[in-house]
Amino acid sequence: MRRQFALLVLGLAFGSVPVWADEADDAALRRALAPPLGLPPLAIPADNPMIAEKIALGRKLFFDRRLSINGTISCAMCHVPEQGYAQNELATPVGIEGRTVRRNAPTVVNAAYGKTLFRDGRAASLEQQALEPLTDPKEMGNPSHDHLIARVRAFPDYAGSFEHVFGRAADITALVQATAAWQRTLLSGDSPFDRWRYGKDGAALSTAAARGFRLFAGKAGCVGCHAIGDDHALFTDHDFHNTGIGAERGRESPADLRVEIAPGTFATVKRKALQAVSEPTKPDLGRFEVTRAPADRWAYKTPGLRNVALTAPYMHDGSMATLVEVVQFYNRGGQSNPGLDARLRPLDLAESEIADLVAFLESLTGANIADLVRDGRSVAIGNP
Ligand code: HEC
Ligand code: HEC
Repeated sequence: MRRQFALLVLGLAFGSVPVWADEADDAALRRALAPPLGLPPLAIPADNPMIAEKIALGRKLFFDRRLSINGTISCAMCHVPEQGYAQNELATPVGIEGRTVRRNAPTVVNAAYGKTLFRDGRAASLEQQALEPLTDPKEMGNPSHDHLIARVRAFPDYAGSFEHVFGRAADITALVQATAAWQRTLLSGDSPFDRWRYGKDGAALSTAAARGFRLFAGKAGCVGCHAIGDDHALFTDHDFHNTGIGAERGRESPADLRVEIAPGTFATVKRKALQAVSEPTKPDLGRFEVTRAPADRWAYKTPGLRNVALTAPYMHDGSMATLVEVVQFYNRGGQSNPGLDARLRPLDLAESEIADLVAFLESLTGANIADLVRDGRSVAIGNP
């Protein structure tokens, strides 16, 4: 409180009011520097050091709808705090002017650990990643970064903020560095699984979830891709695999489009009929779009599984509504196609084993999720 007051006085003295940093930012900063149980240390890029005021600025930007061309869509509308910082309502979210984007929105919690970002791995850092939605014509729709920055410089409530944090007026580098810094504080571990495995608390996990873990690490072979380590686990090998979902989609007629007309209800319509409301979605070839290597066709990044109980629907196209459906999919050995990853094969799991695997996945919800929601929602929303 006293710090806010001091900054306010300082801001007024220099004719501007920079974004304040308060106790929430200090807590967020501590989280990034000392991640919760079960998470490894977080690498911070040398050119984007973590400071509380930058975190506060990045949080404000993340929730600011004015960053889209017509003031309607913020990052947080597709990465919703109360929905695991993903989007539960639609298989693929809707951006500006009702345009449906091509893929399901992944969570940004723990995204800071990604060796690559996006489901096809086309971005190498959170900073690079954020450049795209800002100008994507289906997401935030800005004609260019320069155009966006010219508008941001004119927002009165940001006056002095970029200067205060970066020592210069707002530019696109500073903007994406700030949102990246804030996202680096969205770390969540210390789940029942972590307390059981890494905290040596034998009572932290239900017996069903413990049986599920043994299947996950043993007979079901999940750890082959959703890797776990001796002192921490991110549940990903940071690699790309063909599990057959993309191949299945690829078989659909290019003239037809599967659209979600209400949450969970799909209809197949002629693409032509839809062009009036939304441009046709281009086919999704996964990692192939980045590497052009035939083996990468329909391969997608292995998602980390922390907080997975909060981030339905699942897979790159949001085609599975529940964790039971996901485990049943693996039990069938994925979806057969010529590029199917060799690790996938029918598992012959009993119904009770499927339930145990689901109980295990549900044990991966971090202890601080409510804190992360509160932290996000500490920003004033709305267009001043
Ligand atoms: C219209 C919805 C929408 C908006 C707005 C949006 N995103 Fe996303 N976000 C997505 C989708 C969909 C993906 C996955 C796209 C892909 O893989 O090709 C994604 C991917 C990401 C990822 C990668 C996560 C991972 O694990 O690979 C991050 C980080 C992210 N978004 C942050 C942001 C930030 C920061 C903003 C605002 C500047 C933003 N998003 C705006 C829908 C959205
Ligand atoms: C061959 C590597 C591989 C194996 C083995 C594997 N997975 Fe996956 N998993 C993936 C990939 C890749 C995706 C993302 C697919 C997509 O986006 O279409 C995924 C997605 C998931 C998802 C959805 C996550 C989300 O946020 O959408 C869950 C849950 C999951 N896997 C659980 C499991 C379980 C349980 C097992 C063992 C029965 C398992 N996986 C075995 C690679 C693998």
